[in-house]
Amino acid sequence: MIIQIRNLSKRFNSHQVLAGLNLDIEAGETLVVLGRSGVGKSVLLKHIIGITRPDEGTIDVDGKRITDLQGEALYDATHNMGMLFQGAALFDSLNIHDNTAFYLAQHGNRATGKRYSDRELDDLVAGALEMVGLQETQQKMPSELSGGMKKRAGLARLIIYRPQILLYDEPTTGLDPMTAMQINELIVKTQKELKATSIVVTHDIASALYVGDRLALHEDGKILFIDKPDAFLQIDHPIISFLRKVATQDPRTFRRPT
Ligand SMILES: Nc1ncnc2c1ncn2[C@@H]1O[C@H](COP(=O)(O)OP(=O)(O)OP(=O)(O)O)[C@@H](O)[C@H]1O
Ligand SMILES: [Mg+2]
Repeated sequence: MIIQIRNLSKRFNSHQVLAGLNLDIEAGETLVVLGRSGVGKSVLLKHIIGITRPDEGTIDVDGKRITDLQGEALYDATHNMGMLFQGAALFDSLNIHDNTAFYLAQHGNRATGKRYSDRELDDLVAGALEMVGLQETQQKMPSELSGGMKKRAGLARLIIYRPQILLYDEPTTGLDPMTAMQINELIVKTQKELKATSIVVTHDIASALYVGDRLALHEDGKILFIDKPDAFLQIDHPIISFLRKVATQDPRTFRRPT
């Protein structure tokens, strides 16, 4: 098991967002977390990557209890994780080349401790942008890209440092179905190329079924159910019944008779 979450609780003011959440993530799997808007899916991911601290509970990543760590030790324990934030979060003032190169330029090569030369950075950037089909946009600014291109640029910025654990927050939300499918394909391709472990937060059931080895339902501050896709879709719970219908039925059958 690569990530083990136990009894995770987090409250914002009087709002209990996570309430004793437990979750195990296996090495090499793609786990999809489904749930309604506002249940705390993004909050959960931010805990896993160590940018939000819980009120209670523990997260172990690769045997290290990251919830006990701070500063440099936390950075060291989480440096092989990368997150695609909801909304891509590119730096507006940097072109796509510099956005993609950002973390490598900042931190250098973690294996050797040395800075990358411009030439090495250019090659790595070209490779990452090629993987997401954005080779031609290196000199463009984020404001010149479409929403789907921004998501792909965010993905390039993530995969360039080859993280072993990838967190995706709503990677397909707001995209047209064909662009969404390109992103789904990239998630699977990245997973294979990096032999990574991925957590994908989404409310897009088509995306969930395309990328997921297991599906989980986040509700009431907890992971209520987790199972392989076929078994998951059979679970008797109103949200899962709804997802099952969306995945298998013509939406016109949802219309109430008038
Ligand atoms: N830093 C914060 N301060 C106060 N409240 C917060 C903070 N971050 C999140 N929340 C609250 O926690 C709840 C869960 O937020 P979160 O962003 O995790 O939802 P979500 O499940 O990701 O929703 P969506 O599907 O819409 O992205 C919300 O009620 C939100 O307002
Ligand atoms: Mg969210």
